[in-house]
Amino acid sequence: MIEETNTENNLSVNSARPLARLAAARLPLLATALVLAFVTVNFSVPVLWSVLGFVFVIIVTAAAPARIRSERLSSAAAHSRILWPDTGMKAVVSSLPHPAFLLDQRGIMRFSNEAATAAFPQARPGDPLSMSIRTPRLRDALAAAQGMVTSRFEYRERSGAETVYVVTVQPVLHAAAAAPFILLLFEDVTERLATARMRADFVANASHELRTPLASLSGFIDTLQGPARSDPKAQDRFLAIMREQAERMRRLLDDLLSLSRLEMRVHQQPREHIDLAQIARRVVDGLRPLAEHLEVEVTLDVPAEPVFVLGDGDELHQVLENLAENGLKYGSAGKRLDVRLTQQRLDGETVVLASVRDWGPGIPSEHLPRLTERFYRVDVASSREKQGTGLGLAIVKHILTRHRGRLDIESELGAGATFTVRLPAAEAPADRITADEAPTPALAG
Ligand SMILES: Nc1ncnc2c1ncn2[C@@H]1O[C@H](COP(=O)(O)OP(=O)(O)OP(=O)(O)O)[C@@H](O)[C@H]1O
Ligand SMILES: [Mg+2]
Repeated sequence: MIEETNTENNLSVNSARPLARLAAARLPLLATALVLAFVTVNFSVPVLWSVLGFVFVIIVTAAAPARIRSERLSSAAAHSRILWPDTGMKAVVSSLPHPAFLLDQRGIMRFSNEAATAAFPQARPGDPLSMSIRTPRLRDALAAAQGMVTSRFEYRERSGAETVYVVTVQPVLHAAAAAPFILLLFEDVTERLATARMRADFVANASHELRTPLASLSGFIDTLQGPARSDPKAQDRFLAIMREQAERMRRLLDDLLSLSRLEMRVHQQPREHIDLAQIARRVVDGLRPLAEHLEVEVTLDVPAEPVFVLGDGDELHQVLENLAENGLKYGSAGKRLDVRLTQQRLDGETVVLASVRDWGPGIPSEHLPRLTERFYRVDVASSREKQGTGLGLAIVKHILTRHRGRLDIESELGAGATFTVRLPAAEAPADRITADEAPTPALAG
């Protein structure tokens, strides 16, 4: 409290001008003038002396650092000593969409909005904010704000998943306050940074993925034109590799195109009636040769009756095919792949669950959240060797988003992985409903 009063005194004194001081001391000055006039008249003091004496008093009053303040000044300043923000300021800070704090000049937190209380529950009014937000940048920014300078810095909050904020520290002048408050605004840029990083990674990855087969093709063209010019056996071998590389580039371009097409249509939900049971059967049939080659036994558990969803048949085929192919390619060590289709009531709606479960090595948990990112692969070399582009699950995710569906991935190291597609169930199309058929799909579970 003492410190606050001193701050106020200094401010008042510093801001007083000579004329203001004279005005403040006008009564004592008037009394001095009267006394001097009385003495001059009654005690024959030379007028010059009296005038010089009065001028001296005026100079001293105007120039000396006056410690005496008028009662009125003191009470006005006492009014202006606002340490807690008023209702108006609080209302404005409360309405801000980002976490925001109001601090006093000493960095003590005086008010926080709801978003700030939720994001930083450890920050309490009356405590210095630096106790909860521990970064030297905050101290520098507060010092700058005390000098009426706005500054910004990046702050990473590491409780649980990392959140990145851009913090703006800004002095806020209040007409009635002796000193400005300091507003801290925390803008969450985690998602924006992740998107920017993904975009940059995507371009880098796409060009890298294309450059590798391209470099191999140009290498073989040189060899065919040079050392292998008259070696038909080598030519056959190299041409076969070149076909493989060209095929790889084609697959990559196809995947990139289908991703960009899906991105453009992400808000258009396809609305054809599709029997997912039939698609699951076709996918498993199509992958039989690969399963036999890898010596994996595939089990298929789908209801005999149609299981309808609203969607695009080719896209849903692509979803199940990629999941089953992944299970075969990456989980072949388990020698078993289970494809299952059920309908259930979940969260108040009827959903179709299509799961693909392999019994291979599984996926370490730290990779699970990133698997659907473009080009993300747990083991790049192994994926390339298996002709993977790393775009399959990104395409799956886009297709499911368009279908108002979702993908859940569960895995236990050493015990395989389960990829479950969840889609809203649809009623049978009108032209399929006969007197014998139920109007809604049968519910399991
Ligand atoms: N069942 C699985 N078991 C272990 N790892 C898996 C499994 N499914 C996917 N992965 C990992 O996830 C990565 C991404 O899969 P994704 O389908 O997106 O790409 P890909 O199979 O490598 O290429 P593409 O599908 O384009 O041919 C794979 O490279 C692999 O590392
Ligand atoms: Mg794949």
